Amino acid sequence: MNNTTKKKIILLYSGGLDTSVLLTWLQEHYQADVVTVTVDLGQAKDDFAAIKQKALSLGAAQAYVIDAKKEFAEQYLAPAIKANALYQGVYPLSTALGRPLLAKIAVDIAHQEKTNLIAHGCTGKGNDQVRLEISATAIDPQIQCIAPVREWNMGRDEEIAYASEHHIPIPVTADSPYSIDDNMWGKSTEGGIIEHPDQPIPQAEITRWITLPENAPNTPCEVTLHFQQGLPTALNGQGMDLVQLITELNTLAAAHGIGIIEHIEDRIVGIKVRDYYECPAATVLLLAHQKLQHYVSTIHENSFASIIQDKWAYLVYAGLWYEPLLQHLNAFITAANKKVTGDVTVKLYKGSATVISRTSPYALYDTHHATFMADHTLDQKDAVGFIKHWGLQTILAQQINQHNHHDHD
Ligand code: ARG
Repeated sequence: MNNTTKKKIILLYSGGLDTSVLLTWLQEHYQADVVTVTVDLGQAKDDFAAIKQKALSLGAAQAYVIDAKKEFAEQYLAPAIKANALYQGVYPLSTALGRPLLAKIAVDIAHQEKTNLIAHGCTGKGNDQVRLEISATAIDPQIQCIAPVREWNMGRDEEIAYASEHHIPIPVTADSPYSIDDNMWGKSTEGGIIEHPDQPIPQAEITRWITLPENAPNTPCEVTLHFQQGLPTALNGQGMDLVQLITELNTLAAAHGIGIIEHIEDRIVGIKVRDYYECPAATVLLLAHQKLQHYVSTIHENSFASIIQDKWAYLVYAGLWYEPLLQHLNAFITAANKKVTGDVTVKLYKGSATVISRTSPYALYDTHHATFMADHTLDQKDAVGFIKHWGLQTILAQQINQHNHHDHD
């Protein structure tokens, strides 16, 4: 086969054991040129120069490293903050928000490299395959996704054997049973002992980012976040862009033990899985945003927003970033965030984040109305008529119920 007819496959490459085995395997099985793409979404520990080098030494025809931190923060995390997005009330969707962007970058590079083949290392049991493949084909229906892990049935041991046969460097972490994914919005750890919900998670062993609450400083730390139309724009009075703000807040919150989330999660592929998340900045930002929004919105806006945000989180979790309904929800969310402007101060202390004060020019709060002190802005006697009207149907229903019971006695 000559080079002009040789297939070309774009591989989403993390540099870990799975995708390194894939890189070799794809060249072998498809007789293809493999172009790797490694995306920087703000994951803490990766050495991108070393990953690129590794890809090239394993025969990649080309190894792209793309810094997508700004796009990730502004196009994916910003709407998630405005939406108070938590799947099942607890998970800030860190992995779920990254996948549509990885898909978009892979499709862009596929176009650039004039191919329609994209390979990834997701298993056939998880959500990530669903998110990547739906997003990629929503952008371009010509794209074909290759997911060898779904087919090859190699266990960890076979992968390690394959790697040593093919001179693929086996990272020291290869004996770790955990599946880890991280970016600036959070880190997920699954597998190993975590798969046994009746067993406690060995936190000291697997918590890599956050200082455990018991080891966190005895002195609390206060952070003040300024929000402008629903988005954080300053940390402790210092204006910064979203990437910088999230990065700095991650360091502060992680040092105080904030953002550890243990969750038995309902995957869209049916199974329940136990996950261990470390999401320091996300935990603080979502809390502060939600409390500020609550402060400036009416009772009706607040109760409706919670329905919208549940749906938003579910669609994103379920891989439907390109679902038109999400855009319709975004229109509501953007409108509802117009007045989410102000300052929120959060106390970080040994694993808990608590809002201790807030101010906003749009606050619907009026001290004169709420006070227990004598005040004349609300006439308390008005409450008598209100109670009669408000309770009318409930009281009537009770009377009718009692009346019918007597009749049948
Ligand atoms: N359970 C989370 C989710 O579905 C995290 C998945 C982590 N992915 C991984 N390949 N380790 O979003």
